[in-house]
Amino acid sequence: MSDEDVQDLVAFMRTVPAVDNEIPERELNFPVEAYTPRAAAPATAPTAGVERGSYIANAIAHCGDCHTPRTATGAPDMSKMLAGAIIEGAVAPNLTPDEATGIGSWSEEEIATLLQTGVEPSGKKVEGLMALLIEGGYKDMTDDDALAVAAYLKSVPAVENEVELPAAEVAEEAAPAEESAPAATPPTTLPVSGDENVTLPFALLLSVLGGASLLAGFILYRRQHQA
Ligand code: HEC
Repeated sequence: MSDEDVQDLVAFMRTVPAVDNEIPERELNFPVEAYTPRAAAPATAPTAGVERGSYIANAIAHCGDCHTPRTATGAPDMSKMLAGAIIEGAVAPNLTPDEATGIGSWSEEEIATLLQTGVEPSGKKVEGLMALLIEGGYKDMTDDDALAVAAYLKSVPAVENEVELPAAEVAEEAAPAEESAPAATPPTTLPVSGDENVTLPFALLLSVLGGASLLAGFILYRRQHQA
């Protein structure tokens, strides 16, 4: 994030009511490579165009946390940047301009509309985590910012990558287990692929984007889908 945006965020946090809340000791259970340092942010955030879109997508909204696949150690596979991944047992689709497997056929306006309303060009509404993010904050992006993100997505290298759920997870979707079963993992530990558990900075991302209500929604969503 740019210096200015960090300062504004701190100023906002100072206005949040104080709450006395005991947080349990943290447990780190992810590979350190999952936190590859990102490129340093500029002192002042870009205000327009593809640079603005890149800033929002990478420094603020972290689209790649879900849409970029990970290597075996949990680091983002930048050779397939934004080319789609499995997250929370769902497909986070390929966002690169590849015509066949990405969103190359979408116009920039259609991408911006999806970010602000959740409605795809086909008329279908997105579900799951993406719907939560839109509801929790993406919908409040200005038109210019949504279009800047769209322009950025059009500028990334097209990667042919068809993401499909492993057969086992498809079967699980078809026959969901009992709702009341206890959660297998704490709400902030996200199984990213296969058996690895990689904890992503979701608590931060989600609270920045949508505040406590979104986080609560996210935890509820996990409870329901994890049973
Ligand atoms: C927390 C994980 C997560 C993050 C972060 C995230 N997405 Fe998504 N996104 C998803 C999932 C999962 C879907 C699939 C939703 C569905 O199947 O209905 C999706 C769907 C989409 C789609 C629809 C693609 C298609 O082919 O139908 C677009 C476009 C999209 N996301 C763009 C973005 C952009 C741009 C960002 C960052 C500003 C972003 N997403 C951040 C998880 C995420």
